[in-house]
Amino acid sequence: MGSGCPPDAGGPATFGQLLRAHRKQRGLSLAQLAARVHFNRGHVSKIETDKRPPSVSFAEACDRALNVGSTFTTIASALKAAARQQQGWVQPAQLPATKHNFVGRRDCLNRLDSRLQGHDQSLAVPVAVINGPPGVGKTALAVQWAHQAVNDGHFADGQLFVNLEGPEPGTAVAPFDVLEDLLRAVGVPPERIPADLGQRAATFRSYLHGREVLLVLDNAANAQQIYHLLPGSPGCAVVVTSRSRLPGLLSQVDAVTLPLTELCRPEAAMLIRAIIGDVRADADPAALAALAERCGHLPLALVLAAEHIVSHQHRSADALATELRTEHARLNLAEGDVVLRNAFDTSYNALDEQSARMFRLLGVIPGQLIDAAVTAATADVSQDEAVRLLRNLASAHLIQRQDERHYLMHDLLRAYAADLSRQLDGEPGRTKAMRHAADLVSALNSSVVPSLVA
Ligand SMILES: Nc1ncnc2c1ncn2[C@@H]1O[C@H](COP(=O)(O)OP(=O)(O)O)[C@@H](O)[C@H]1O
Ligand SMILES: [Mg+2]
Repeated sequence: MGSGCPPDAGGPATFGQLLRAHRKQRGLSLAQLAARVHFNRGHVSKIETDKRPPSVSFAEACDRALNVGSTFTTIASALKAAARQQQGWVQPAQLPATKHNFVGRRDCLNRLDSRLQGHDQSLAVPVAVINGPPGVGKTALAVQWAHQAVNDGHFADGQLFVNLEGPEPGTAVAPFDVLEDLLRAVGVPPERIPADLGQRAATFRSYLHGREVLLVLDNAANAQQIYHLLPGSPGCAVVVTSRSRLPGLLSQVDAVTLPLTELCRPEAAMLIRAIIGDVRADADPAALAALAERCGHLPLALVLAAEHIVSHQHRSADALATELRTEHARLNLAEGDVVLRNAFDTSYNALDEQSARMFRLLGVIPGQLIDAAVTAATADVSQDEAVRLLRNLASAHLIQRQDERHYLMHDLLRAYAADLSRQLDGEPGRTKAMRHAADLVSALNSSVVPSLVA
């Protein structure tokens, strides 16, 4: 132990006694030690007299102030583990496995690190919301980061993972039921789980108090689903993923938002390579890039395409890229029971009727940039109404906001919208809308669009 040896060998038996012995040996008063560890004198006194248990952060401060290695931290951690067992705390480890082929997202991982690992002294529970369109990699990012954080020694009291099953109407799980699962997961006996939502939430907060627990709320439908599940004490942290912007959340919770978009070109190619292997990837790098392009660099599409290649031994990246030249083939990209268009269905099915109609219409309006004026004229609604509906679609991450009146749409989602329009809107109406929109777009192109795009 070096300088960490108790000064009076065989003497001090408790954390408090050992602390006092080290303090006296260095000739420090209680007030001087309190100043060194940045805790108040009363707190240090209570710990020295074993009237209050030491927290691990207090023990770390003592180790630093008295230069005794990890003497106090080791004891405080052991005391904490023993207390945990006494209270019936079951340390949950619910994170799903991460994949070895996770690529990119360095910025997002860094932002999550700085937001959630409790470097600041704030008393608020840090919350991060990852949002973006279906299949963009929200869950993968949350799980990857969580594993890294645990591996670095954070959230030692446990990790909880809940699939909230949003956003389709009728599928989202009620917080009342989620809390029951969470309380059971941390060891609360069924007979001690209250029958009232507020009390369940309060019991959950009580159990988490003073612990370092990570809570991952995957696939949230709305902000209301989340409020009751939030821990109250700052050692905990929460990561939420959602296809929606979760309107209303930021007014209640101090959360950071990470909007995810598709991977960049090199990362998209890297992801395919990681799945199909270097030999196949090196055989035709140009085909790899073309395939990634056809998948719109969307992780889910990339994974489906790459797995398709692996499971069909004879299929080359080039052959699959050729096969995927039609929108129909791209949307029906499937492997096992996962079909790309089904991932989009859940977001589309959650829309109200007017927003759904507007979404389908966007599939027939030509051009990259969605303009509120053109959309309003084509849909035969006021500009204000068009802006409202476009905002709804952006909130569901089916389009991306460029500025107040302009939006962008992912190629695969545009193909999906066009396909839905073919199925659900009468052909004459569709053709008329397409012509009308084409006229408006070309009129607009000759005047304002270049400056907007620039
Ligand atoms: N950065 C990444 N690296 C490797 N695979 C990824 C990455 N992001 C997503 N994936 C994979 O893409 C698929 C879709 O990702 P997922 O996280 O389920 O999307 P979302 O939660 O946004 O709907 C999954 O198979 C996932 O493992
Ligand atoms: Mg997900």
